[in-house]
Formats: sequence, structure tokens, C-alpha cells
Amino acid sequence: MCGIVGYTGKKHDCVNILLDGLRRLEYRGYDSAGIAVLANGKIESIKSVGKVKKLQDKINESAASTTSIKTASTGIAHTRWATHGAPTEQNAHPHMDDNGDFALVHNGIIENYQALKENLIKKGHTFRSETDSEAIVHLISECYEGDLFQAVAAAIKKIEGTFGIAVISTKHPDTIITARRGSPIVIGIGNSETIVASDLAAIVSYTRRVIFLNDDDIALITPDNIDIRNIENVPVSRETAHIDWDTGAAEKSGFDHFMLKEIFEQPEAITNAIRGHLDDSSATSILSGLNLSPREMSMINRIVIAACGTSLHAGMMGEYFFEDFADLPTEIQQAAEFRYRNPILEPNSMVIAISQSGETADTLAAVREATQKGAIVASICNVVGSTITRETSRGIYLHAGPEIGVASTKAFTCQVAVMLMMALKFGRNRRLSRQEGLEIMNEIRKVPELVKKVLDTAPEIEKVAERYANASNFFFIGRGYLYPVALEGALKLKEISYIHAEGYHAAELKHGPIALLEENVPVMALANDIPGRDKMLGNIQECRARKSPVIATATEGDTEIKNIVNDVIYIPRSPHYTACIPTVTALQLFSYYVAKKRGCSIDQPRNLAKSVTVE
Ligand code: G6P
Repeated sequence: MCGIVGYTGKKHDCVNILLDGLRRLEYRGYDSAGIAVLANGKIESIKSVGKVKKLQDKINESAASTTSIKTASTGIAHTRWATHGAPTEQNAHPHMDDNGDFALVHNGIIENYQALKENLIKKGHTFRSETDSEAIVHLISECYEGDLFQAVAAAIKKIEGTFGIAVISTKHPDTIITARRGSPIVIGIGNSETIVASDLAAIVSYTRRVIFLNDDDIALITPDNIDIRNIENVPVSRETAHIDWDTGAAEKSGFDHFMLKEIFEQPEAITNAIRGHLDDSSATSILSGLNLSPREMSMINRIVIAACGTSLHAGMMGEYFFEDFADLPTEIQQAAEFRYRNPILEPNSMVIAISQSGETADTLAAVREATQKGAIVASICNVVGSTITRETSRGIYLHAGPEIGVASTKAFTCQVAVMLMMALKFGRNRRLSRQEGLEIMNEIRKVPELVKKVLDTAPEIEKVAERYANASNFFFIGRGYLYPVALEGALKLKEISYIHAEGYHAAELKHGPIALLEENVPVMALANDIPGRDKMLGNIQECRARKSPVIATATEGDTEIKNIVNDVIYIPRSPHYTACIPTVTALQLFSYYVAKKRGCSIDQPRNLAKSVTVE
């Protein structure tokens, strides 16, 4: 969950590159930050609690920064999301060995760190932090016999758990050694400079030529060379990829927050997600990334979708699409649950992992479990080259562009759009007629415009949101296709505004939660004009009878609903299977404006991280 960046080269100012990288990675964790650089044969390290800005101020004020740190050309840096030990300066990375010869940054969790630590203490090492990470740097120094490869290979053989690490050493100037297992590491190849990071976002401003490490790869990098070996110290070759990524997309471009920018990017992001995939001549979608012939596709008799968080809600939408369009039994499972419940999978089962980052630990574990059980495993991811995409080898990219705000927005709507196209493909492979296929395709093409119309009403949604910004509790209720939207709306609100919000099926409200309704507990009722609306009107009355204020989403032109609710957010008319997308956009805006009114840290909510690489 933490962010790592390292730089070696003389072309750019090392410290500024490290700080710039940390700012771009801050969404991965932001409770403390630190850097370590090689300066005049020594390691100089500066750390601070809080966000990267604080670290930057500290570096600017430090005496060392005016001399040695500023001229350094090799260094590593880290932004932390605490797992072991409180967010203090002592626990902030980089961590050093006893003699100050090695400094390390780590992303992941070392499961056997207690045993390692006890053993290392017996051998005379002194620990200065409560972190699991510190054990790795002591272990590397303990294993070091003059060869960095050998030391890191020996150390990681003793480690259980997940790691992406970058290490510098006074004994090896102009060098960074990096390795991974379960946490991503990507190396950017520049011109006489090399950057290593846990995420492309820290690299793409400097170079688009990158190498993704595989698990148990160890890479020794210098400004002009990258030497990769496996854990047995045997050289391995890894492909160089060219990343097509607009750096402007990773800036706020005039918006107050990344989240707002990403909400407004949705028409374009969805257009990119569907671009080139819809084919009029065959009245279906072309999804060559799935790598399934029509015959192979027709043999699939069950779909299981595994995902976490917002992606889980997108998966729930997928369940409706696959069953409606393709008569294909589909179930959605929380990825950790899927992994540990010993899922029943047959050779004709297809498992679809959905993940914005492509790095979520539980979703990755679900992919591995499904693969070893012999299922057909595909992914729907946004981050190109991420671990899940590489381990599934078949799948579809969202092409939503980088999503920086911790609360996922454009990735969600693109995931839903991609699943619509997948369900169309399976549907046409089974029971949908050519005419039905064309109709669905046309509706999918209209989605960016539907979303745009909702965005045009942002000022009205803001006014509604401001009226409810003081609430402490909230319910979101929906039915059918709008049930997952209710769950996602509640998740969005709690993530960024810290209001306790629960998403419920409208019919479930009576089975407990209704006991909590009273005049200061508002209900967001998703009452669009799609199947289920009539029942929803009854549910709204039940809420009003308990004095709860009700905000409804409703289809444009529905004037009747105004009489029974306190506020209405209008959504343009579309079929039930696409109505969920503009509706979720309205709820994203609603949450955003509530959080803004409450003065919350919208892009980096407390305790959250964008990419959850721990179980
Ligand atoms: C974290 C993020 C969520 C995201 C979830 C799953 O909790 O804060 O926004 O939905 O992880 O992430 P993934 O990258 O697998 O979609």
C-alpha cells in the first residue's frame, strides 16, 4: 500500500525527482514519508510524519540539504500507509542497518518478521522501529559478503510475506538494488538515468520505457544498466514495455481535487473504454483480449466474478448483465472470501477478476486460486502491466487513464461499461438476436452522453448535497440494477465524508435498518423509472412515515416523485441496464460535495489507500 521510488543518474536533480515521485504516489499511503540518498560516501536520510509536503519543508530547512543532499545522484524514497507500528518518524522509511551502510524502503508485509527480528537481535542487530520492514535491511546487511545480488537473494529466501523493496548501499555508489514478491516494482529506463517505483505514476514524466519485475526477480540498477536475476542469482530477461500514458492526465488540471477531475473525465474515459470494441457488422462487441473463440465461449457454463471494494460493486452489476443478456449463471464473490472458501470451479467455469489497480492482494490471490483450480481466468483492470493482468494473460483494459483519487470513480463506470460489452458478447454468442445486439450496442454508445448530462447538473447536485452535509448517518436504498448502485453510493459517501452510510436493498430496509430511521437520518432512494420503481415509491413512503428526509434519484420528467420526497436528483432516461451508470455519477458528485462542505481530505481520506496490497 505504500509508495516507493528510487533514482540513479546525473541528468536530473535526484532529491526533486524523489519528492516528485512521492507526490504522485501519495495516494498509496500518506501517514509519513522519507528519503535516503548517497552523499559523499554516506547515507543521508530525512523523514517526517504526515504528507510529502512536510517532508519537503523539512528537507528545505535541513542544513544537509544545502550541501550533500542537493548534489546526490542516487537515492530512494517512501510514502507510508502504516501496518506495523504507528505513523511516527521512527517507523517511517527508509530504514537503515546498524552501521548505516544500507538503507531500504519496503512495500508489503513480512509475515515472519518477529522470528527474523529475534534472530537478528541475537546476532547483535539493534532495531529502532516497530516495523516489519526494518528486519529486511538488517537481514541484508547480515547476509552481505561483498555482493549485493547475493545478499538480497539470501535475505529474501528467508522472508515470508510480500515485498517490493529498493535498497542503496554506501559500498555500491550509483546503484540501487530492487526486488519484489507480491508487491509491484517497475523500472523506468531513461537516458543515463534509471528510476524504480512501485507504480508507473512516479515514472512516466521521465520515461515511457519500462520493465515490470516478476515475483522473486532481483534487479541491480545503475544509470546505464539494468541487470535482472532470479532468486538463485541466475540472469533472467524481462521485456521492455512502452507505456502510452498522458502525463497531463495525472495532474489536477484546474479541478480542486483529483476525484472531481476524475468524475468529470468519465464521458471521455467511458468513450475510451468502449472505443474499437463495438462492431455493427456482427452486432456484438469485439473483445480479442479475452482470447476465446465463439466455440470456446459457448462452452463456458458459469461465471464467477471476484473483486474488492468499488470493483466488487461493479462486479455485482456484471452479475445482472451476464444473467440478463446471456442466460449465464453468474455469481459475484468478495475476493478474499472466494480465496478462502475453497470455491467449486469446473473446467468450463470462467473467473473474472476486476481491479482498477491490478494489484489488490485479495483479488490477486483469487486469480491464483482460480488458475490452479483449472478455471478460465480473465481480468478487467485499468493499470497496464499490473500483476493481475500479467497473471491472467487474458482480459480487457479499461483505458480510463490514471485514477489518483483514492475513492474510485471513473474506473467504476468504465468497469461497468466493459462488463456490459462482455455480457453483450456472451449474449450474442447464445440467445440474443442480431437486432437485440444492435439495440444494446447503441445504448452502450449513448452512455458517455448520459453521464455528461448528469455532470451538467453538478451545481444543482451540489446545492442538494450541502443541505445534507451535517448528517451523521445515511441510508442508500435501491432495487434490481440500482441495488449495487446504492451500495456504491453509500461506500463513496462514507469513504470521503466520514458519514456513516449504509447501502441496502430497499426491500431489506424493513428487516432491521428501519429501526434506525428518524428525522435526522436521511435516505437516498434510487427511484429511477426502471423495473422496481413502483415498489420503491412504497419504500419511500415507509421512510417518510419514520420522518426520514428522502432524496430520490428519478428519471427526467418524473414530476410525481417531487411530491413525496424532499429533494430530487434527475437522471436522463435510458434502459435499466445503462441507467445505473449516470446514476452512480450523480451519487459520486453528491458524496464529493458533501465531503467538500465538511472540509474533508477528499483525495486522501484518512486510513484509506488506493491500492490495498495487504490481505
Ligand atoms: C481500495 C480502494 C478502493 C478500491 C479497492 C479495490 O480499497 O480505496 O477505491 O475499490 O481498493 O481496488 P482495485 O484496485 O482492486 O479495484
